[in-house]
Amino acid sequence: MLANRRILLIIGGGIAAYKSLDLIRRLQERGARVRCILTGAAQHFVTPLAAGAFCGERAYTDLFDAQSEFDVGHIRLARDTDLIVVAPATADLMAKMAGGNAADLATAVLLATDKPILIAPAMNPHMWAAKATQRNLAQLKTDGVRIVGPNSGEMAERGEAGVGRMAEPNEIVAAAAAILHGTGVLAGKRVLVTSGPTSEPIDPVRFIANRSSGKQGHAIATAAAAAGAEVVLVSGSVSLPDPPGVSVVRVETAQQMLEAVENALPADVAVFAAAVADWRPRQVSGGKIKKGGSGPPTLELVENPDILATIAHRKSGRPNLVIGFAAETDDVLAHAQAKLKKKGCDWILANDVSPATGIMGGDDNTVHLVSAAGVEAWPSQSKESVARMLVERIGAQLRKKKR
Ligand code: CTP
Repeated sequence: MLANRRILLIIGGGIAAYKSLDLIRRLQERGARVRCILTGAAQHFVTPLAAGAFCGERAYTDLFDAQSEFDVGHIRLARDTDLIVVAPATADLMAKMAGGNAADLATAVLLATDKPILIAPAMNPHMWAAKATQRNLAQLKTDGVRIVGPNSGEMAERGEAGVGRMAEPNEIVAAAAAILHGTGVLAGKRVLVTSGPTSEPIDPVRFIANRSSGKQGHAIATAAAAAGAEVVLVSGSVSLPDPPGVSVVRVETAQQMLEAVENALPADVAVFAAAVADWRPRQVSGGKIKKGGSGPPTLELVENPDILATIAHRKSGRPNLVIGFAAETDDVLAHAQAKLKKKGCDWILANDVSPATGIMGGDDNTVHLVSAAGVEAWPSQSKESVARMLVERIGAQLRKKKR
C-alpha cells in the first residue's frame, strides 16, 4: 500500500541512475509522494532538473545550500517521510552509510533519519563481491537497512556480467510496499468517514443541498489511509476524485448516508465530516413540479436522522472513537460544547463557517478540538494539514485507550 505514503528517493552515482526516473513514476503510479536527493556523483548521470520535473518539486542536492536548508532542511528531509529508498546504492554510498559518514546531504539525511531505509545496490560484479562491500553489506543489514537486489545479468560495461545489476523499478516498488505494509499510526484500524453534502430531492430535477465541498472529509479519509488504516468513505455528491486506497460509497440523501454508515460498521473510529441536510421534503414529487395553477408550491419539510448521534448513541457496535464537526456561524465554542453532549460523541472539531472565513468550500480551515478534557485551538492550516493532525491525534488516543 503506497497511497499517499511519502518516499524520499536518494539517487546515487551509477549508470543505473537512469532507471531511477522510471522508479519515481512507478512509485507515483502506486499513489506515493516522492521527493528526491541526488548525490554529487549522481548528477553525472541524471540532472536535478529532470529528477525534480518527475517529482513535481525541486530535487535536493547540497547540504550547505542555504535555500534548501531554509525551505526544508536536512533534518526535515530525513523525518518528513515514511521510507527512504537509495537507488542506485553504489559501493561508495554503501561504504559511507556503513561508516556513518555525513559529509554530504544524502549521507547526512541517512544518518539523521528515524525511518526505514531500503537500498537497491548497483555496481560492477567485482565491486559487489569485494570483501569490503560484503563487510559493509553485513553491517548495513545489522543496522536494520533493507536490501533489494542486486540481480545478476549483463552489466552496462561490454562483456561484464554477474551479480550487480540494480533491481528493476517494479521490484523496488514491491519491496517498498512490503516494508510500508502494516506501518503507520492507524495500521490495522478500520476508519469510517462521512464527507460532502447530502442532497434531498424535491422532484426529479430539483433538490435541497448545501455548500459543502467535501474537501475536509476527503482529506481525512486520505490521511487515515496514508496512516495505514482501512478506510470507508461515505460521500455525498462532490466534484473531488476518490482518494487512492479508500473504499468510497456514494450516496445522495441523509437516509442513504445513514444506511451506508451502518453497513460500513464495525469500525474503530468514525469521523462525521459530512454536511448532512437537517430536513428533507416530506413528499418527493414523481414528476417535475410545474408553474402555474395555484401559485408557488409550499414545501413541507421533515427532520432527517442525525447520523452522528445515531452512531454515537449505539449500545453495541459503537466505534471506540466517534468524532463530529460543528459548523457554526456564531458562538462557535458554546455551540460545539452543547453538540458534544447532545450527540454523545467523543470529540468535536468546531469551525466557524461564517462567509467571511472562507472555510466552506475553501482550502484552509481553523478548528478547535472540543472534548470532555477541554478546548484546544489548532492553528489555521490547510484542510490536508488539519486531516494529518487529526489522524496523529486519533492514533495517540487509540494507543492511550489500549494501555
Ligand atoms: N450530522 C449528522 N447527521 C445530521 C446532522 C449532522 O451526522 N442529520 C453531523 C455532522 O456530520 C457533523 C455534526 O453532526 O459532524 C454537526 O453538524 P452541524 O451541521 O454542525 O449540526 P447540526 O446537528 O445540523 O445542528 P445545527 O444545524 O442546529 O447547528
